[in-house]
Amino acid sequence: MEKKKLILDCDPGHDDAVALMMAANNPHFDLLGVTTVRGNHTLENTTINALNVCQYLGLDELPVSSGCAIPLVRIPPKTEERVHGESGLDGPVFEKLTKRVTGARAVDFIVDQVKKFPNRVTLVVTGPMTNIGLALRYAPEIISLIPEIVFMGGSWQYGNVTPAAEFNIFADAEAADIVFRSGIPLVMMGLDVTRQALCYPEIIERMANHKNVAGKLFVDLMHFFSMAQKKVFGWAGGPLHDPTCIAYLMDPSVIETKEMYGEIDTSSGPSYGRTNCDVFLLEGKPANVKVSVKIDVDKFWDIVEECIKHYN
Ligand code: RIB
Ligand code: CA
Repeated sequence: MEKKKLILDCDPGHDDAVALMMAANNPHFDLLGVTTVRGNHTLENTTINALNVCQYLGLDELPVSSGCAIPLVRIPPKTEERVHGESGLDGPVFEKLTKRVTGARAVDFIVDQVKKFPNRVTLVVTGPMTNIGLALRYAPEIISLIPEIVFMGGSWQYGNVTPAAEFNIFADAEAADIVFRSGIPLVMMGLDVTRQALCYPEIIERMANHKNVAGKLFVDLMHFFSMAQKKVFGWAGGPLHDPTCIAYLMDPSVIETKEMYGEIDTSSGPSYGRTNCDVFLLEGKPANVKVSVKIDVDKFWDIVEECIKHYN
């Protein structure tokens, strides 16, 4: 079976880093490249973090392109040192960084790859949608050439940065609005399911049994991430939001989705950044997004473990 071509647009971030580990070196996927965006941390740090993860995992040929340092319209929300640390990826100890970004900027890389492989490149978006929204505005001709966007963001219930909004969407609601109105098939891994992918200590112990670079990276990342989540939110395990996108692409049965009509609230009120999802299609508008409503958590962790084993 032909490998699914992916571009991972991300803001590493601990959960982004696990998603990157899962997408790379994976017989299911042809990971064309990684593009970075400001979100969990500054663009400089999310880019350094993506490069460090690639270097650590031996992904020397994987292109990394740097993207947007600020959202399309609004000022960026504060970065998430609380849960990701000063570097945005505290925990692992990386060697001196020698891997460098490619010459292309993220938007140009995305446009070039989608045109090179029309109707074959799935965009996986695990940070604010700034790069994607900009790419669709900069080169609208690629809209019809993108078969699917699978993204971590939003929720059809409640948020995590405000009562209404999830961080990735809140960080650039105008960019998300462009994506939601684009007509490109969307699959939303929202907080409703990602909050159930909690990396408890027993999960860390399970993955520590795999004595390879991916197992060590996972353990070092999750030790910090889970400690920070416990300190900030009192949770016994950190929610691994972004890897749900990769798990879904490997085995869609891990996540149950429901077709909904979704739109982004870009008003200046308290609901700015909310993914308004019409669960019952009450307004009669055609569904434009498959929204995740249930996750098989055991199967999810089996998939994460399978990806770690790809580095044996
Ligand atoms: O709200 C969770 C999302 O925001 C995750 O993608 C996390 O990495 C941050 O980007
Ligand atoms: Ca992220």
